[in-house]
Amino acid sequence: MITRLLTGLTFLFVLRAVEANTEKVIFLAPSRSSLPASLVNINSNSGANALSPEQLIIRSSVPVAFPTVQNPRGLEYWYLLRHLNPEQRYEVRVCWAASQPTEFWLNVFGIDQVPTSLLSALGSAQLDSDHSGKTKSDQPTESVLALRIQAAADFFSSNQTLMQHPPPVDVDIILDPYLLNVFPASLSPTALYISVLAVVGYFVSGVLWRYLSPSAEVYKLRKD
Ligand SMILES: *[C@@H]1O[C@H](CO)[C@@H](O)[C@H](O)[C@H]1NC(C)=O
Repeated sequence: MITRLLTGLTFLFVLRAVEANTEKVIFLAPSRSSLPASLVNINSNSGANALSPEQLIIRSSVPVAFPTVQNPRGLEYWYLLRHLNPEQRYEVRVCWAASQPTEFWLNVFGIDQVPTSLLSALGSAQLDSDHSGKTKSDQPTESVLALRIQAAADFFSSNQTLMQHPPPVDVDIILDPYLLNVFPASLSPTALYISVLAVVGYFVSGVLWRYLSPSAEVYKLRKD
């Protein structure tokens, strides 16, 4: 019975794994800090490049390239992770169809580790020229990180067109807060399912035990 349950579970997980490929990064949100000047105005154009508790998923089609000596990880993309809860654990996943073989690398960086030029491109916000005049207290603070995604095509085809222009890959980029810093929130239905199975399994094993116990007693007698 237990073996059958386990086989069933394994099958379910394998099934999930076959549907899509996933690459992920797990991190703790940093404490609040004042935003770099280049990001102060970013709210005005709630960028398509930002994930936050209000925007947990970005669905996108990203161009990819084959690895080269200069860019062994193909092309790279930057996103902002905004309005995070300081000290909370999160994961970011990239999911893509198995039919589009691609290798992804995900990294998160503190906002102060990211070159300013890149940040302003991300926010497409003008540099606030008189930010130096502001006191620290009226600068907005928030827990924010930068996410780097690198994507390299990972297939071989005898079709030269495909090899020279690998087609863009459809991806879901998902921000997933952990519950109690233990479970990804999106996993909780699965966790619930497994818990229910465990409880049912416990009672079923009790019934089975009673059903089998006559023979267990025989065994005991023989042993004595
Ligand atoms: C190569 O792939 C492209 C893009 O999928 C397709 O349009 C073209 O017909 C293919 N060429 C050959 C020779 O199969």
